[in-house]
Amino acid sequence: MTTTVTSPAVKAEGVWKIFNEGQPNEVTALQDLNLEVGYGEFVALIGPSGCGKSTLLRVIADLTHATRGTMQVAGLTAAQAREQQKYGMAFQQAALFDWRTVRRNVELPLELQGVGKSDRAARAMELLEMVQLADFAGHRPWELSGGMQQRVAIARSLAVDPPLLLMDEPFGALDEMTRERMQNELLRIRKETGKSIVFVTHSIPEAVYLSDRVVVMSPRPGRITDIIEVSLGDRNEDTREDERFFEAVTAVREALRGNHGGGSAIRSRIGEV
Ligand SMILES: Nc1ncnc2c1ncn2[C@@H]1O[C@H](COP(=O)(O)OP(=O)(O)O)[C@@H](O)[C@H]1O
Ligand SMILES: [Mg+2]
Repeated sequence: MTTTVTSPAVKAEGVWKIFNEGQPNEVTALQDLNLEVGYGEFVALIGPSGCGKSTLLRVIADLTHATRGTMQVAGLTAAQAREQQKYGMAFQQAALFDWRTVRRNVELPLELQGVGKSDRAARAMELLEMVQLADFAGHRPWELSGGMQQRVAIARSLAVDPPLLLMDEPFGALDEMTRERMQNELLRIRKETGKSIVFVTHSIPEAVYLSDRVVVMSPRPGRITDIIEVSLGDRNEDTREDERFFEAVTAVREALRGNHGGGSAIRSRIGEV
């Protein structure tokens, strides 16, 4: 069965996440959230700090459980998807092991999978070539710049060739120029690998530049208040100056302000050439 191809990458139905339910410190982080991410789709999650973006990613990753509702990943339960390594994850901090070389950091998920030494070294080198760091395979992470470390982390998240990438503000700590380069790199990797991607950010231009759809979340309790389609085709040098890019940025900004009327009026124009 080719469930990974025919099922959506992610399907959240009526997902609630309530921390400390019934306690005085109860927090509703996610409220009745419904979302489907198509196979091969790039979806950005945007919203104010504390609105539940990381929590949603963690529910998808089965690092925490939905209080109510169901979460499916590639047609499996979130737990099955985690066990079968159906996703890779990257965070704001690269979280590399300083005592391992760059190559051996990328190899780690393969090591855990029991892949043999020469196979995993070959795969790690292939990935380091993809992120243009093959020359640094023998270096230690601390010898690399922040952007390079993030590329190592992305290579590592791709090691087991998962169909889905979950990324939580992976470029949040990088300077603006490095960040734009990394965005292009990620889009290139996506094109080469066909991965589905769920990408958390609080940068509006970043969300618009990268994704097919921008999912806008409200302040706590996190709900989806808007989904904005971005039809910019293949991104290139000119995209960031394209009128449609600015229109989409404006639509997302309006949606974040809770201005749904204005948002949808603008939204209806996006994608019209
Ligand atoms: N383990 C936890 N226990 C209690 N509350 C939590 C826990 N994790 C997150 N929260 C709360 O859930 C809300 C959403 O957090 P989070 O998903 O990290 O937001 P975001 O990533 O959008 O900034 C916040 O109010 C946060 O304090
Ligand atoms: Mg977060």
